[in-house]
Amino acid sequence: MKTLYLISTGPGDLAYLSPRAQWALQQCQHIVGYGLYLDLLGDAIQHSQQHTLALGQETERAELALDLAVTGQVTGLVSSGDIGIYAMATLVFELLDHQAKPEWEDINIEVIPGISALQALASRVGAPLAHDFCTISLSDLLTPWTTIEKRIHAAGQGDFVVSFYNPVSRKRRWQLETAKQILLKYKKANTPVILGQNLCRDTESIQITTLAELDIEQVDMLTLVMVGNQETRIIDNHSTSQHSHYIYTPRGYQAKQ
Ligand SMILES: C[S@@+](CC[C@H](N)C(=O)[O-])C[C@H]1O[C@@H](n2cnc3c(N)ncnc32)[C@H](O)[C@@H]1O
Repeated sequence: MKTLYLISTGPGDLAYLSPRAQWALQQCQHIVGYGLYLDLLGDAIQHSQQHTLALGQETERAELALDLAVTGQVTGLVSSGDIGIYAMATLVFELLDHQAKPEWEDINIEVIPGISALQALASRVGAPLAHDFCTISLSDLLTPWTTIEKRIHAAGQGDFVVSFYNPVSRKRRWQLETAKQILLKYKKANTPVILGQNLCRDTESIQITTLAELDIEQVDMLTLVMVGNQETRIIDNHSTSQHSHYIYTPRGYQAKQ
């Protein structure tokens, strides 16, 4: 039997790795991934042969995983957060769809879900995703900017809570400022914005600001930017255990009473 596990490793801390993902990692003789993600897995993958490929070699990573699975040795392809969300799983299916090698056809593929950055960030501040929300990637490497812009307008018109993945990169910084200006046409200037950087990792930082005050300089490649809807509220958190505020988006229970 040929087996390929597409394993989501969650946002960072292994406490957020699902039991199914832990089990699959244990089964794997080969694990393919980006070096940083494999480093984060540490002891969980020491028994396996590891194949690290650099950022930018996504197609090669997916091909290698399929080719290793063909040999009959249990193989895992890992990706951080959820492997199905702006990540590697789709590339495997794209290869099967367009460049299938006959020997890939009978590989059993199991996709193992994980906690994506937006769930990790929401959990850190309260419950901002309790009503309709959407995600938009601001990377225009594979998607034309005109398409991305159209989606930002639609998110604003629909008053969705919006999470921006890939908000900036080293070479790409203007897109987030443009997204902010578009959303300001639809959302109030004081709409809460949450910046989550390096979530569930040692250097995690959470900042709370407003749409008008969102400073692009505070955002890097490992930041998730979450913008509230018109109901999203910031309230004080008087406990000493966490941040000084909670943020939540009401579903309307109070209004119904
Ligand atoms: C290519 S996407 C991968 C998303 C990932 N598959 C997930 O489900 O979270 C990369 C973007 O996800 C966000 N991201 C992923 N992990 C993060 C983390 N630990 N902390 C903050 N943002 C993160 C950032 O916006 C980053 O630019």
